[in-house]
Amino acid sequence: MVKTIEWVNGKVRMLDQSRLPVSVSYVTCKDYIKVAEGIKKLWIRGAPAIGIAAAMGVALGAQKIKANNFERFYKALQPVFSAILSTRPTAVNIEWAVNRLKNLLMSNRNLSIPKLKSLLIEEANKILVEDIEINKAIGRWGAQFIKDGDTVITHCNAGSLATGGYGTATAPMRVAVEQGKKIKVIADETRPVLQGARLTAWELMKDGIPVTLITDNSAAALMKRGEINLAIVGTDRTARNGDVANKIGTYSLAILCKEHGIPFYVAAPLSSIDFSIPSGEFIPIEERNGKEVTHISGCRIAPHGVKVRNLAFDVTPAKYVTAIITEKGAFSPKDLHKLQRSNTGLNSIRIKQKGPCRWK
Ligand code: MRU
Repeated sequence: MVKTIEWVNGKVRMLDQSRLPVSVSYVTCKDYIKVAEGIKKLWIRGAPAIGIAAAMGVALGAQKIKANNFERFYKALQPVFSAILSTRPTAVNIEWAVNRLKNLLMSNRNLSIPKLKSLLIEEANKILVEDIEINKAIGRWGAQFIKDGDTVITHCNAGSLATGGYGTATAPMRVAVEQGKKIKVIADETRPVLQGARLTAWELMKDGIPVTLITDNSAAALMKRGEINLAIVGTDRTARNGDVANKIGTYSLAILCKEHGIPFYVAAPLSSIDFSIPSGEFIPIEERNGKEVTHISGCRIAPHGVKVRNLAFDVTPAKYVTAIITEKGAFSPKDLHKLQRSNTGLNSIRIKQKGPCRWK
């Protein structure tokens, strides 16, 4: 499995996913500002992967702080937290990771500053290692839904590249293959950034999992022909009621599944479930630069001056979701709230939203 991100000799090294599959190149970040830039520019993307990057960014930012007591150290960390938290709004994993490090600092405030700095590095690496184990558990729970001979459709990239490794939506597929099931995967190309074409197709081919690439608008026709048995997608943030934010186009895919009687599964580590919000209308939806829509690989494909909306994510209402597959098991969306206590209370220190919100 290709390494998405790692801590090497006091720096953060990330695979530049914006260049895949044309070139496999890495960016070495010497400071947290570079990590934040990497998250914004999609060098690293996918909810769990940007959670790991957020933790490593904070750990990196902490190393350069000169402070002789906890209060000064924590105060000096505030711009680091802000820079990382303001990168991308939809994936809750960023807040989850930053909160985990804040909690760690708070509960070890009596330790020396050098010790706190190394604790942050250790914790960021721990989040990476745990993520792979969590994905494998999602895979074990999810593989039961894939039968020998099935064709699975997926949207965007919720694979190894979107995580520390193994992937979330791809985990049940990987386990099914390990169990000897003959399966096929259909990857939606995923306009406008083409994560399906550039990333999912690339990583599954590399791992020898049969994959066929389609345009996003082909899914209905293939479903009508009986060529798709189930859908599995990832999530950036799932609300307490099971409403699922994921890459733009996921909602349409879910409606198509409902219409054709095809089960629609969401692979969601607990770090992507936001128990503090009651429903999907509270999820901030990132809107990205219109150039992602008007250009492909730097080439203009739309007239100069055309107005563009570029929502990066949509929210699939819980009623379209057959089950949410977590590391603790697969749950009907209406039972998701029962998992709240397993989430280790890490969402507890985030500021509660007062009402439905939009990212500015
Ligand atoms: O804009 P991206 O590429 O970060 O969007 C990624 C997705 O929508 C993934 O499906 C989601 O983060 C889940 S990744 C396991």
